[in-house]
Amino acid sequence: MTRIIAFESSADETSVAIVEDGHTVLSNSVATQINSHRRFGGIVPEVASRHHIEWITRVLDDALKQAALTPKDLDAVAVTYGPGLVGSLLVGLMGAKTFAMAHHLPIVPVNHLAGHIAAARFAGKVEYPAMALMVSGGHTELVLMREENDFKVIGETRDDAAGESYDKVGRLLEFPYPAGKIIDDLARKNQATVKFPTAMAHDDNYDFSFSGLKSAVINYVHNAQQRGENLNKGELAASFQNAVVDALLGRTKRALENYPVKTFILAGGVAANQQLRQTLTALLETFPETTFLPVPMQYTGDNAAMIGAAGYWNYQAGIFADLDLNTDPGLDF
Ligand code: KG4
Ligand code: ZN
Repeated sequence: MTRIIAFESSADETSVAIVEDGHTVLSNSVATQINSHRRFGGIVPEVASRHHIEWITRVLDDALKQAALTPKDLDAVAVTYGPGLVGSLLVGLMGAKTFAMAHHLPIVPVNHLAGHIAAARFAGKVEYPAMALMVSGGHTELVLMREENDFKVIGETRDDAAGESYDKVGRLLEFPYPAGKIIDDLARKNQATVKFPTAMAHDDNYDFSFSGLKSAVINYVHNAQQRGENLNKGELAASFQNAVVDALLGRTKRALENYPVKTFILAGGVAANQQLRQTLTALLETFPETTFLPVPMQYTGDNAAMIGAAGYWNYQAGIFADLDLNTDPGLDF
C-alpha cells in the first residue's frame, strides 16, 4: 500500500489530499478563493499568492485530520510544479518541500494537466490505449495515452480554452466569475434560439478554436443592444453552450474514429458540464469497444486528490525530484 500526500496551488484553490494506491481518496481538503477574485472578474495573481500562504498550513492540517493519519503513515509527497501562476505554484511547492524535508519523505513532481486526467481513476480502471479530452480554464486538449505516463497531444485549442470562453461570454452577460456552471444551469432550462458557428468543424485535424464563437456572441449582443432589444440571457446561454459542445463532440468523434482506444476520459473544470457529459455518453455508446470514464463531479475542478493520483504513477515509475525542484508555469505535456 502506498500513501501519498499531495499539494496543489496552481490557480485559485489551495488543496492538500492523501491518496492510497492512486485511486482511494483518504482526504481532500480544498480552500477556494473564488469570492476574493469575483469582483475583479478573474484571478488576480498577487491576491491568489497571499491567499495560498494564508491557507496552506490549514488545509494541510485538515487533510491529515480528515484521514486520521500522521506523517509517519505516508510514503511520499506529490506536488504540482506547473502549469499555473508562478506565485501560486511557489506556495504549494514550498509547503511540499518543507513537509518532505521535515518528515524525510521523497518528493514526486506532478504536471497539473496529468493530475486532471489521473482523476479518472476515481471513477474506475483506466485501460490503455486511452484518450482524454482535457477541458479547463486554461487548456483544451485531446490527449492520447498508449500507456501510463505517456501523453501525446493530438489536438489543442488555437486560441481561447473552452472554460475561458465560458468565462468571457459570462462576463459579457454580466454573470459572476467563473461563469461555467451558471451558463450550464441556464442552458438546461432554456431553448437555444441562435445558431452560432462551430469553428473548424471541417478541417482535417483535431484542433479547437473558440475565439470566433466568442466574437459571434459579442456581435450578437451588441447588435441586439443597438436595436434596443431585451436580451434573453437564458436562450443565449443555451445557444452558446450548444456551439461549444458541438465543437468538442465533433473533434472527439473524429479522434475516436481514427484512434481506437479502450478508455475515453473526460477531465478538467469544464468536465462538470452536464450537456457535455450527456452528449459524450451518447457518443461513446456508438464506440462499444471504448469505456467512458468521466472524472467524478467532485474532482473535476482543481483539487489535490487528482495530484495524488498522478503522483502515484510517477512514484511507481521512479520519477522523483530534489529540493531544488522549481516551478514551470508554462509546462505542457
Ligand atoms: O480545471 P479548472 O477548475 O481550473 C483550471 O485548471 O483552469 O477549470 C475551471 C474552468 C472555468 O473556466 C469554469 O468556468 C469552467 O471550468 N467550468 C465549467 C463548468 N464548471 C466549471 N464550464 C462549463 N460548465 C460547467 N458546469
Ligand atoms: Zn486545473
